Amino acid sequence: MSMPLESKSLKKIYRNKGRKTVAINDFTFYVKEKGVFSLLGRNGSGKTTFVKVSTTQLTPDEGYVRIFGKDVVGDEKELRHMISLVPQESRPFPHMTPYEHVYLFQKMNGNNREGSKDRADTVIDLLGMKEFSKTECVNLSGGQKQLTMVAMALSLDVQMYFLDEPTIGLDIITRKGVWNAINRYKNAGKSILLTTHYLDEAAFLSDEIGIVSYGNFIKQGNLDQLRSTLEYDTRIAIRGSHEGLDLEQFGKVHSDNKGSVLFTNQENVEKILSNSTIRKERIEIGPIGLDDVFISLVGEDIEVDEN
Ligand SMILES: Nc1ncnc2c1ncn2[C@@H]1O[C@H](COP(=O)(O)OP(=O)(O)OP(=O)(O)O)[C@@H](O)[C@H]1O
Ligand SMILES: [Mg+2]
Repeated sequence: MSMPLESKSLKKIYRNKGRKTVAINDFTFYVKEKGVFSLLGRNGSGKTTFVKVSTTQLTPDEGYVRIFGKDVVGDEKELRHMISLVPQESRPFPHMTPYEHVYLFQKMNGNNREGSKDRADTVIDLLGMKEFSKTECVNLSGGQKQLTMVAMALSLDVQMYFLDEPTIGLDIITRKGVWNAINRYKNAGKSILLTTHYLDEAAFLSDEIGIVSYGNFIKQGNLDQLRSTLEYDTRIAIRGSHEGLDLEQFGKVHSDNKGSVLFTNQENVEKILSNSTIRKERIEIGPIGLDDVFISLVGEDIEVDEN
């Protein structure tokens, strides 16, 4: 069995009125196992372009993408029956209801009347959309419209789902509903390529994470593997001042007017805690998170001014 996704030396250049933008310079990575693979990167790093190439909306300039062994150039016809997509910034038709969107999408994809109704009911139930499923989209909120796009994509029974920022603009409870749906698909043996700027979402859902920067694929691994690429394993946040204790000796310190964050290693925690000048209720200790990994890998030396 071929692996879910292979991207080899992929390059994609946009050409507009004589101007060239290299959106993808070199994406080389392999998704070897089924499950959720999240592609993370700053705005403009090439994620949506990659999703467009992978879903056969754009053709590569160099290199290839294969999904379960099918090439995006040459095997488009077969591939289109194997994949489903939530495009970034898509919008439903104003004068159709969410239910009609899913139902007609099913029919367009070859399902019969009864089957289409069943799928529409199931996915609307799964995403908790019953209350507004028969309301015209023009009268729905931004988040309800976004869920409609997710419902259409998830209504298809395919091998691989491309979800480009599927939970953008959703409240935390609705987002968690989408997470549950994604987990169900994963447990049913589906593959999901997710892009998101919500790093808690990526940390919660991903079996593996790929990090991209300026059109280059730079790192891949599960959360622990990515964490272990950093010099430090522990994050200590101290509110207020910490006079009398030189934190720099224990690692890397970022300070602002609210306090300091120290990146350090676990073996230093006791020494820091035993320092009597720091009030314990002002300290938060935990492992470094995906945010820290992300900033370290793609954030360059951004100083965030929190004044
Ligand atoms: N249609 C287009 N024509 C020209 N340049 C484009 C086009 N679409 C995207 N780009 C450029 O290609 C680069 C990659 O864009 P892309 O949309 O793939 O980024 P992204 O990682 O999805 O960003 P975001 O997180 O903001 O969605 C950016 O520099 C962008 O300006
Ligand atoms: Mg994008």
